[in-house]
Amino acid sequence: MINLEMKKRKGIILAGGLGTRLSPISLAISKQLMPVYDKPMIYYPLTTLMLADINDILLISSPDHLNSFKRLLGDGKSLGINIEYASQEKPQGIAQALIIGEKFLNGSPSVLILGDNLFHGNELLPKLESANLKKDGATIFAYPVSDPERYGVVYFNKSGKACSIEEKPSNPKSRFAITGIYFYDDTVISKAKKIKPSLRGELEISSINKLFLQESNLNVEIMGRGMAWLDTGTFDSLNEASNYIRALEKRQGLKIGSPEEVAWRKGWIKDSQLKELGNALKSSSYGKYLLELLKN
Ligand code: TTP
Repeated sequence: MINLEMKKRKGIILAGGLGTRLSPISLAISKQLMPVYDKPMIYYPLTTLMLADINDILLISSPDHLNSFKRLLGDGKSLGINIEYASQEKPQGIAQALIIGEKFLNGSPSVLILGDNLFHGNELLPKLESANLKKDGATIFAYPVSDPERYGVVYFNKSGKACSIEEKPSNPKSRFAITGIYFYDDTVISKAKKIKPSLRGELEISSINKLFLQESNLNVEIMGRGMAWLDTGTFDSLNEASNYIRALEKRQGLKIGSPEEVAWRKGWIKDSQLKELGNALKSSSYGKYLLELLKN
């Protein structure tokens, strides 16, 4: 019998790279484990995937740092999810994550997120949900920035359709940078195997997105003003991201990017499990917050 049921989408978090702009801190610590206010950076993209209903996740990092991630997140059971790990020996491009993840994905559709990308805002959940529901092709997100030349840039025609993508163009044709979260169907692996390294020697994620574009199978969603897409690559931007999170959390009394909270709200863990997680961290405001959730 043919199984016509679509496989559930799996997630990949790419958390390697050199983080040279954050040296000397990055000489000994993974960039994606550095604090963004009150929690490690990796919590934010992990929570984003969980909000998108992804509970089977592969975390890829450099051989030096993989164990630190394992120490922090384990096999994911305490969050009611599955987390596996793989190593990227050298940072040879974002698209390499898909090749490393081939066995893990095992023919499932995927969502790849960069471990240093923070998304926040009202539009996020509906956008993630609709991207997750799309069965064919790719969905990527564009965000207006003042320095598009640092990113993959997407250009739209008069009717608002994406018509070209350029990686780090010196003369960008639009202000729309492509953010670090990409939803793909199962054809992405064959595309990742097809592309060649760019002049800087990397397997570019833009090359994959271009293949979907050529097939008219690329959906580009714009993240508008109501959304924050935060950068954490430099000392200033890391500090600004921390201040942003701190200001919102203080004002609202709610935490942003707490995987424990999302797991609990989704019913993936029970009250008793959240209590255990909170108790283990109860001397920090983070742990106290988890315990408070149970009271409200
Ligand atoms: P970048 O910001 O391009 O690189 P980086 O984090 O190493 O920083 P720097 O420029 O300061 O040296 O990478 C974006 C994200 O993708 C970041 O989370 C690291 C990750 N990455 C990998 O894990 N492997 C790779 O091969 C590449 C190119 C990036």
